[in-house]
Amino acid sequence: MNNPSIPPVTPLACTGFLLSFEGSEGCGKSTQIRLLRERLQAAGRRVEVLREPGGTAAGEQIRHLLQHAQEGDHLCAESELLLFAASRAQLVREKIRPLLADGVFVILDRFLDSTTVYQGFARGLPLDSVRAINAFAIGGTLPHLTLLLDMDSSTARERIARSGRALDRMESQPAEFFDRVRTGYLELAREEPERIHILQAAKTPEAVHADIWNLVQPHALQA
Ligand code: TMP
Repeated sequence: MNNPSIPPVTPLACTGFLLSFEGSEGCGKSTQIRLLRERLQAAGRRVEVLREPGGTAAGEQIRHLLQHAQEGDHLCAESELLLFAASRAQLVREKIRPLLADGVFVILDRFLDSTTVYQGFARGLPLDSVRAINAFAIGGTLPHLTLLLDMDSSTARERIARSGRALDRMESQPAEFFDRVRTGYLELAREEPERIHILQAAKTPEAVHADIWNLVQPHALQA
C-alpha cells in the first residue's frame, strides 16, 4: 500500500556500462570476454564478468540443474525457460544493478537474448510469452550494447568437437537446433540494430578482438 508521507524511491543514478556477449557454442565467446576484460582493466576501468545461467549462489545451483544434474534430464521446455529467467532475475537484482550503480563495466556472458533464441526460436516456445517473461525478469535492466559472435553452425560444431571436452545437455542437441539458434540471433540483430552488433567470429581471435574494441572503446572510460 502506498504511504503518501513517504517520498517515492528514485532509482540510483546508473553510471556503469552493461555489455552482453551472445552467440552459439563454439563461437569463441570465452576468449573474447577474457581479451576485453584485460583490455578494459589495462585502460583503468573496473570490470566484472558474470555468466548466465549463474553468477549468484542460487543461479549457480540453477546452472547445475539445467546443464549437468540428472534431476534436470526431463525438464519440460517451459520449466527450462522459467529456470533461466529465475537465475537472471536474481543476477539483475543481486549483482548487476549494484555494480552499475557503483560505476563498474559489467560484461555478461549471455543474457536475455539467449532465452529468446534458445527457448523461443530453437525450442519453439511462443515468442510473445518468452519476451514477456524476459521483460519481467530484467525489469528494465537492458544491456547498453550486445555483441553477437556469429559463425556458421557447422564450423562452430567442429570447433567444439575439436576441443575434445564432454558436451553438456544443450550442446548435445541435433545440428538443426543450432541452425535455428543462429537464425534466431540474426533475426534479433535485425530487429534491434542499435543494441545488437554482429561480429564475424570465424576470423582470428586477435581480429575479432580488434573489431570488438572498435565498438567498445567509446564507452570504455565513461564512468
Ligand atoms: P555456456 O554459456 O556455458 O555456453 O552455456 C549456457 C548454455 O545454456 C548454452 O547452451 C546456452 C543455454 N542457455 C539457454 O538455453 N537459455 C538461456 O537463457 C541462457 C542464458 C543459456
